[in-house]
Formats: sequence, C-alpha cells, structure tokens
Amino acid sequence: MGFKEGFLWGGALAANQCEGAYLEDGKGLSVPDMLLGGDVNTPRTFCPQTVEDAFYPSHDAIDFYHHYAEDIKLFAGMGFSTLRLSINWARIFPNGDDEEPNEAGLEFYDKVFDECKKYNIEPLITLCHYEIPWAIVTKYNGFTDRRVVDLFVKYATTCFKRYKDKVKYWLTFNEINCATIGEDTAPLYGLGMIDRDLLNATEPITFDKFKYDSQLRFEALHNEFVASALAVKAGHEINPDFMIGNMICHITWYPYTCNPKDMLACQEKDSMFNDFCGDVQVRGEYPEFALNYFRKNGIDYSFITEEDKAILKEGTVDMYTFSYYMSNCVTTDPDVETTGGNLIGGAKNPYVKASDWGWQIDPDGLKYTLKKLSSRYPGLPLMVVENGFGAFDKVEEDGSIHDDYRIDYFRSHIKAMREACDDGVNLIAYTTWGPIDIVSAGTGQLAKRYGFVYVDRHDDGTGDFSRSTKDSYYWYKKCIESNGQDLD
Ligand code: BG6
Repeated sequence: MGFKEGFLWGGALAANQCEGAYLEDGKGLSVPDMLLGGDVNTPRTFCPQTVEDAFYPSHDAIDFYHHYAEDIKLFAGMGFSTLRLSINWARIFPNGDDEEPNEAGLEFYDKVFDECKKYNIEPLITLCHYEIPWAIVTKYNGFTDRRVVDLFVKYATTCFKRYKDKVKYWLTFNEINCATIGEDTAPLYGLGMIDRDLLNATEPITFDKFKYDSQLRFEALHNEFVASALAVKAGHEINPDFMIGNMICHITWYPYTCNPKDMLACQEKDSMFNDFCGDVQVRGEYPEFALNYFRKNGIDYSFITEEDKAILKEGTVDMYTFSYYMSNCVTTDPDVETTGGNLIGGAKNPYVKASDWGWQIDPDGLKYTLKKLSSRYPGLPLMVVENGFGAFDKVEEDGSIHDDYRIDYFRSHIKAMREACDDGVNLIAYTTWGPIDIVSAGTGQLAKRYGFVYVDRHDDGTGDFSRSTKDSYYWYKKCIESNGQDLD
C-alpha cells in the first residue's frame, strides 16, 4: 500500500510570489503588486498609487523570472516529478481585456515548461493564483462584473491552446473558497473586488479599512464558479486528456469542546468554508446548506440562473486539489484564546504546537481531511497541492542551514498521507509549499521561509538572490526516491 506507483512528488509556487520582473516584457500590474510588506505583527498595507522608496515584495520576489533554469535544475536534483506553478494572468493579458495576448509573456512560460520537460517534470499549472490584472480591478471591480467571466475564459483558452502539448494538469482558481471570507484582503485577492472609495487613496491603507458588500461578494464568487466551469469545458474540448481541478484552502476545524453549541458552530464553519465551493465545482450544483446560508443572511441568490446551473453541471472538475497547513478550533466562548492561521485563525488548540506565525501543526488533521474528502467525493483523484512550514532559518558560518523543524513537519505530514493512502484514499500528487524560499502571501515577508532551497533575499530589499540547499533538500530527495517510504 502506501503511495501508488507513479505518484507525483514535487513542490508548488505562485508567479507573484517568485517571479519578480513585475513589469518586464510587457507584463501589466496585478493585485499583489499593489501590496507592501508586513510581518507577523504588522499587516501588509495596500496602496493604489506607487509609494516611492517603499518595499513591494512581489516586484522582484526571488527573481525566478531570470533564475528559472537554475531553480528547476535544483528541483530536478530532488527528483521532482511535478512542479506546480501559476501563470501570471497580467503577463499574458497585461490589462485583462487586451485584444491580443502578449507574445513575450507566452514565450516565457514556453521556456519554463520546456525546462521542466527536460527533467521529466510534469507542470501542474494554476491559471489564477491571486494574480488578477490590476486593470480588471480598477475598470470592472473584478468578478463582480459578469464581463470578467469572458475575459478569464479567453485567457484560459489562450493558455490551453498554447500549452496543450506541454501541460496536462491545470487548476482554475487558487483557493477559490477564500472569497467566502468577507474581510481583509481575501476578496481582493480572490475576486479582484475592492471598495471603489479605496481607489482614491494616496497613502498605504491597512486592511481594517476594507469593507465588502456580501451580496456583491457572493455574486462575484458565483461568476468565478461559472468562469471556472466554462474553462474546464473549453479545456476538455482543446485536449480531452487534460486533467483540470479546483483548488480549495482546506482548514480542518474541530469543535473546541464537546459543548453541542461548539459542534454546531464547527459544522457551519466546515460547511461554508471547506465544503461549499468544492461541492459546486465537483458536483456542479450549489449544496442546500449554502442556499440556506444565503436565505438566513439575506443574500438574494437569483444570480444562480437556469443557464448558469447548466454551465456548472457541464464544467465539473476532474480532480479535487487543496492546500493544507493546519487545523483550527471553533468555539462559542468569546474568552477562549485565539491563534493565527492561513487566511483565518481560530481558537487555540491545547493539544498541538504552532509555528512562529501561530499556524497550528497538525498532521492528523491532514489524514482526517483526506479521509473526509475521499468519502465526500468517492473515487475522485485528490492532490495535496500546498503543505509546508514557514519558519525563520539560520545560515551557519559555513553556509549550511539545519532546518530539522521543517523536516519534522514534512515527515509527520507525509506519514499522515501515507496512512490515508493505506486506508484507500485516492491521492495522486503532493506538492510542498514552496520548495524554494519565496514571498509570503499573508505577510509579504521573505523571512518566513518555506524552501528546501534558501534564497539570499531579505525584507529590507538586500541580498544577491543566490541559492543554496538546506538539510531538508537532501531529506526530501530521499523521501521521493523511496516513494515516501524512507522518512528517517
Ligand atoms: C496559501 C496560498 O494560502 O498559503 C499561498 O495559496 C501562500 O499563496 C500560502 O503563500 C502560505 O501562506 P503565507 O502567508 O505563509 O505565504
């Protein structure tokens, strides 16, 4: 038992967090280019005008744009059989609604995919990893405008046609369920929507100023479901062998106590955060609990037209993919201590440890989630497309980096996946986040390092972008060589 033969092992990156070259070769601005850096105690800020001398982490990121060949060679050195990357939409359609795609942008990804193929690395490509072109935000208010569905489908179709012989595995929207969170930057990142007043700001704004209309937010999410389904359908017409998946930020929720009220609150959270979007994309219809949520919260869901219902049914995904970093607890007691998390935090679990960013380390939660998904969507191939440990790394005098904490994290999570496979879960791939240090999406930090490969780049903008391997690099290589058996 354990991992199947041909299991795909690799790592995952997002264009905006690694490429840099933010205006090179005709690329337009995208949402992350408008965000300044922060840290664990200081939220990132946003400014629609460029703030001079400020540090924008995505503008140079780790300069993957010019280092891709070196980086892919390093990944091949660990034995990767897949690499998850995203295409930055604004590299292909700089303004989102351009008549013709930007050839230089298309050529860049040709080169990247060819480099992967050289080492038999199968690209796994996210079409939109929070990289909505900024012009789509200013001109259309993102997916709140139905015309953006067509713009996305045109972009997706352009990519499918161009790379049909180079890419088999595709994901439509990264963590589409982040749009169910009505705060912070989640709807801006995920849907490209923003309060119109904020577009006039000339100074950096903190996220507590972000206010989103729930009606509009769920309409925008619906448009994104439709865009995703139309893309799936178009992709299959272009190449019937394509495997096209959704991508959900999955957070395992536990009731903080056995108080039945906690259990009910937990069920609600699990349904609306984890299951809602997956159900729409896998089953092709809104689950009853989501419609009930709309009714109870005064959301008029007449935007789900008969025509759209047919589109959702025709564009169901071929596989379910998700990110998993941690679990969180749900409580109805306002006095319980809370902790941070990916997109959202929760009540602190006394039984597990946490990272320096408060993300709770819980491999059993991953096993639980895999088994839950396997019975929710029987037979559907599953991929864990993000899982990793953000930590401060220390470079020793001789240049070595002893990241045992990261190895521990991966060891326990891979073991949990293996156990789930033993229990019959149809898991086909695992891509760690991120195999090389990159910009953190949540805090904008480079100091929050995830990689097996270290990058000399820092939050004050210093560093020469040189790459070096950490202890975990050799550990993961061994793990891959043994198809996940050797975890010592
Ligand atoms: C996921 C995102 O939610 O979490 C990634 O898809 C992100 O883009 C990752 O980088 C880790 O979060 P962070 O905030 O540590 O970068």
